[in-house]
Amino acid sequence: MVFYIKRGKVPEFRHTYIDKDNLLKEELFGFDAFDSEYSLLYHLYDPAELEVVQKEPKKLYGKIDETKHRHVKTGKFKKYSDFFYGRKTLFFNDILSIGIINPESNSDYYFRNAVCDELFFVHYGSGEILSIFGKNNYKKGDFIYIPKGTTYKINIKEESYFFFVTSLDHIKIPERYLNKYGQLKEGTPYYDRDFNVPEFMEPEESGKSDYSIKINYMNCYMNIKRNYPVFDVVGWDGYLYPFTLNVNKMAPIVGKLHMPPPVHQTFESKTFMVGSFLPRPFDFNDKSIPIPYYHNNIDSDELIFYSSGNFMSRKGIEPGSITLHVHGMIHGPQPGLMENSIGKKSTDEVAIMVETYKRLYVTNTMLNNEEKDYYLSWKE
Ligand SMILES: [Fe+2]
Repeated sequence: MVFYIKRGKVPEFRHTYIDKDNLLKEELFGFDAFDSEYSLLYHLYDPAELEVVQKEPKKLYGKIDETKHRHVKTGKFKKYSDFFYGRKTLFFNDILSIGIINPESNSDYYFRNAVCDELFFVHYGSGEILSIFGKNNYKKGDFIYIPKGTTYKINIKEESYFFFVTSLDHIKIPERYLNKYGQLKEGTPYYDRDFNVPEFMEPEESGKSDYSIKINYMNCYMNIKRNYPVFDVVGWDGYLYPFTLNVNKMAPIVGKLHMPPPVHQTFESKTFMVGSFLPRPFDFNDKSIPIPYYHNNIDSDELIFYSSGNFMSRKGIEPGSITLHVHGMIHGPQPGLMENSIGKKSTDEVAIMVETYKRLYVTNTMLNNEEKDYYLSWKE
């Protein structure tokens, strides 16, 4: 996904042994069959070993067919469950799910998303992601990327709140940001050195004999029990692994006239993009109108999670708010905001945008919690 790294002990050549009497189990962890990014992991124990598989039904969402601009204040959501069960999906389509997690506790089981890449934005809090690749610390302002298929756990150290996007299609660094060698180009909002990659974690060699992994499929969970430690990797190398990227390390692109959202792009996928609106000086033309002009998202739905700062472009927004501005209906500054913006020199906002090229539907959780009259807020 990002660049080549190596952790721990790996054989000199691929698909060979280090010690004939203590054979390691090599696992290829890769996207698009054998054709895209991959890593090679060396396990102490058989990664395929399992004792029991139990199917667990999953709550599915009905499609609510009512299209309008929406706003929900997720800051009022109560703590609920753990990082995996506690995911409150608010918006979805047949490719992705978007929502928040306000977990109450850590889980004692391991988790693996068999169908989706996962992207989290840390609204606040800190802790560790522990995976077969090692340890990634996280803190406020981090994006956390977990590749589809990764077995992991989370260790929340400081009360944490997350905005999430999970997607059947892979979530990637925009191709236009990369040169032909895969290095991030000059002029992009972040650079290779800004990524935090997994720290090596010593393999767990023995211990209890009862390990539970919850595997997320489309319509159910499969709960696996196995007898050997899950984090048993003595070494690995490759291009595919979890990483974090903090928005404070990014360099927003600014201009003399208003810069459109694509310059704030952070990640891409086939059917959506993720962008970050970050603290930055406004446009420096002496007659500029800093607030974004009215726009008609002809081909996309535009969802924004507001994390911190003053959100000048929208009325009634608070940290934790999510707005959805739908295709087919124009949106822009609410009455009075355009006039108020003139003369403003900078913004301290931190907001994450998910622009989807396929229509978003809302869940009952969203319907039951939204600000009902938001779509009327352009009325004088
Ligand atoms: Fe917009």
